[in-house]
Amino acid sequence: SRNYAISVIPGDGIGKEVMPEGIRVLERAASLYGFSIDQKWQDFACCDYYAKHGQMMPDDWKAQIGKPDAIFFGAVGWPDTVPDHISLWGSLLQFRREYDQYVNLRPVRLMPGVPCPLVGREPGDIDFWVVRENTEGEYSSVGGKMFPGTDREIVIQETVMTRHGTDRVLRYAFELAATRDRKHVTSATKSNGIAITMPWWDERVEEMAKHYPSVTHDKYHIDILTAQFVLNPDRFDVVVASNLFGDILSDLGPACTGTIGVAPSGNINPDRTAPSLFEPVHGSAPDIAGKGVANPVGQIWSAAMMLEHLGEADAAAAIMRAVETVLAEPGLRTGDLKGKANTEQCGRAIADALA
Ligand code: NAD
Ligand code: IPM
Ligand code: MN
Repeated sequence: SRNYAISVIPGDGIGKEVMPEGIRVLERAASLYGFSIDQKWQDFACCDYYAKHGQMMPDDWKAQIGKPDAIFFGAVGWPDTVPDHISLWGSLLQFRREYDQYVNLRPVRLMPGVPCPLVGREPGDIDFWVVRENTEGEYSSVGGKMFPGTDREIVIQETVMTRHGTDRVLRYAFELAATRDRKHVTSATKSNGIAITMPWWDERVEEMAKHYPSVTHDKYHIDILTAQFVLNPDRFDVVVASNLFGDILSDLGPACTGTIGVAPSGNINPDRTAPSLFEPVHGSAPDIAGKGVANPVGQIWSAAMMLEHLGEADAAAAIMRAVETVLAEPGLRTGDLKGKANTEQCGRAIADALA
């Protein structure tokens, strides 16, 4: 049936401001394209919940979420009241692991009419995907602290990479590249300095590449790769990276297209053994929260990715056309893109452009 159960988790800060715009556009798309959305809003996975309960989520959060077709997420974190590692390991990072969302898929695209901070770049020059490993790597709880509070204090945190976990995200990246015109994979590495895990990562890339003769590939060390994002973004088609490197690249890429406020992501479980989660790349932005000025496009583009995942490709494409129409209008853009609109005006304009 074309009725989709969606778990809605707005989170903190601007997450609560951009979520209603994402929902507005989803509902408009549903009515225009003949499907329906059954929303279940959750009040946990936010720092208000922590203030009341001393933890980010109830013990039975999995049962409360149930088995939705997807999770639509805003942003979490309010460092003034809850340390970031507590709020994030108590919510978003648990979802990614518990639901085995091993791909974090993050598009980077310069939209027509949007002022680009890289001089002389046109839409089409910046159009690639970051495929970020999302369940292991540098984000690990293996390690510890010794001699705390003494001058001999030692902290150790291991990077954990498994063949299973690495190969499956590499496979996803090569499969994605095979569907694209340029058919090219770039691997983010650091095998000159990180001498155990990263040479091994390079080997796994070479092994995987053998299965995809139609796809070309190359690699850059992460330091020069960040420079190439700025200097030659037109080189990239699909960029595959470990958890931490992918995190960094997926803020840098969108910044090169004008703002991180438009960037979406899919935390995807490609095997569909559990729900996937769709959210903007950005965080809760405490510096602008409460003002109603946040860019809602990251949330709205995430809705489009979610619909694509659910099989509603026409509605997803229509949302992207509406986003492009609105972003080309300075009067309808938000302040991060030197526009004059507030969050709601921008969101309403996109919903209206759908019709
Ligand atoms: P951030 O993404 O929240 O903000 C970085 C900068 O970008 C800020 O100046 C902010 O105002 C601006 N910005 C972000 N989104 C915007 C939007 N939609 N429109 C206009 N401007 C926007 O990153 P941060 O400051 O490092 O983190 C703030 C909090 O969010 C922390 O608690 C952090 O842990 C958390 N965080 C959560 C997520 C997530 O839930 N996925 C992602 C990143 C950061
Ligand atoms: C992101 C965020 C998270 C990450 C943080 C908030 C833990 O930066 O989704 O990119 O590092 O994955
Ligand atoms: Mn990030």
